Amino acid sequence: MIKFFFSSIGQKIQIAFTGLSLAIFLLFHLFNNLVLFTGAENFNKMVQFLKSIHLFVRILEAGLVLIVLLHVINAIATTIKNKRANNGKYAIEPDTAPKSSKTMIWSGMVILFFFIIHLRYYWYTFQAMTKDADFFAVMLKNEFGFLGHTPTAAFYIIAILLIASHLKHGFVSVFKTIGMPFKYRDQIIKYLAFVFWAIIPSGFIIIILAIQFGIIQ
Ligand code: HEM
Repeated sequence: MIKFFFSSIGQKIQIAFTGLSLAIFLLFHLFNNLVLFTGAENFNKMVQFLKSIHLFVRILEAGLVLIVLLHVINAIATTIKNKRANNGKYAIEPDTAPKSSKTMIWSGMVILFFFIIHLRYYWYTFQAMTKDADFFAVMLKNEFGFLGHTPTAAFYIIAILLIASHLKHGFVSVFKTIGMPFKYRDQIIKYLAFVFWAIIPSGFIIIILAIQFGIIQ
């Protein structure tokens, strides 16, 4: 069992399931952030509620950290293994391989950098605030690291577009790895993948643009 876990296929299955869990987290995260459109009072109430179930949120966050670590470590290990096996070359000729497949590891690295900036400014700031503070105002702050700041907003949009490309390729790989024995397999994959790689990232970008253009204020 342990041996299977660390085999090439075992590692791919780990990447697939952790990736899928992260995509589901993103869907929840988008819904939380869409509350910004309903105004300061609702958004602050939602954050206050999350603070009131602090212990539960902490457990979920610990799970999320574990999932991210498993995803990243297995992705790096698989990349190194593949490179060694192919003696530095890809099994498919580089110019025929899908672009996102070749750049998966690099887009993954930029996403990781985005994660660090995002958590340092939003998550960390929220942790330091008391329950009755104005969280909505922090979301719109015009300072580096916050979305009222145009260069930060532009960096977020670039990172989210990379996330979209990463998700698009990732979804195709997930279903190749875990398989799907349904009759309408290809259609299901296509529509499900579309929700994740197109609709969720678009939702985040709409929020950022709405902050930048003063629609959320
Ligand atoms: C419009 C874009 C986004 C906004 C406004 C936003 C907002 C926030 C805020 C306010 C927090 C702190 C929540 C808290 O501590 O209660 C947070 C945490 C977090 N965000 Fe985002 N986020 C955005 C996009 C993203 C994206 C694209 C990702 C992933 C690729 C992401 C991943 C995370 C993670 C992992 C956390 C920490 C987990 C948590 O405590 O919920 N966020 N985000």
